[in-house]
Amino acid sequence: VSQYQRDYYDSHYSTRGALLRAQLTHPLFSSFYSRLARRVLDHGAVQLGEAVAAGMRPLRVLELGCGEGLLAAALARVASEAGAEIAYTGSDISASALDLARRAAPGEFVVGDASDVAAGLQLGGFDLVVVKNLLHHLSNPAEFLRRASALLAPGGRLVAAEASRGSPQAWFFSVLAPRRERYFFVYGKARTRRFFGEAGYRLIRVEPFSFLPYELFFAIRPGVFRRLVNPGKRQTVCGVDALDDRLTRLLPALCSYRIWVGSPTGGRAR
Ligand SMILES: C[S@@+](CC[C@H](N)C(=O)[O-])C[C@H]1O[C@@H](n2cnc3c(N)ncnc32)[C@H](O)[C@@H]1O
Repeated sequence: VSQYQRDYYDSHYSTRGALLRAQLTHPLFSSFYSRLARRVLDHGAVQLGEAVAAGMRPLRVLELGCGEGLLAAALARVASEAGAEIAYTGSDISASALDLARRAAPGEFVVGDASDVAAGLQLGGFDLVVVKNLLHHLSNPAEFLRRASALLAPGGRLVAAEASRGSPQAWFFSVLAPRRERYFFVYGKARTRRFFGEAGYRLIRVEPFSFLPYELFFAIRPGVFRRLVNPGKRQTVCGVDALDDRLTRLLPALCSYRIWVGSPTGGRAR
């Protein structure tokens, strides 16, 4: 699985430089990622020790399967807007992904396989571990989560954002991206909950995030997506964000993403 993912994503990312630049600068896209980054930091920062809260040291964030660095860029943006400091480390199996991520965001970037997640990373060295759209690529997510917990400092949290497999947006994406489906494990809500339990986490929150499928629009037809929203109009972007929030509250079962927030219990959950 790992070899396939490495080869597939190396070739995938090697053609994505121009698209990434467009994504990073598109106001609707970056506002979607800022909302996600805010949510991730809010959930991750709650339990922080006094040193971070008092601004004595940065929040140490590790993102596994960070891809081309879209969330990394948003985390840096949101932290700086909030006057907070983060020390970001991004890791991915694809070296091509990290070539792009280094251009997108500040931080340290390490090529690594999530199946052997501790290799090259400091055990107990992070306040927050983030994974977005990674669990569905792994054949043994519980084992991955268990190993990832060893990277967290005491009181640290793991925040996972996964496409909600029951949503029509996710099904549409599965039809349009058949190559990626080769190792695309469909884990529903109940199984994901079990993975966290088996890996020894207490689940603190499971919540829906975003109804509108931004990534789908952008990945498939960037031109169409860009024309949908006039980048010059801040009002339009705010309007779409507000609509997305409203739809998320109205139809949580149909949201594009689910956010999982877990805290290691230090032992294997029953
Ligand atoms: C669907 S992409 C998501 C990228 C990014 N997190 C996002 O949400 O935009 C999955 C990412 O996981 C990486 N990946 C897949 N299998 C992996 C593994 N075993 N170890 C580390 N990264 C892996 C891929 O290279 C790719 O960057």
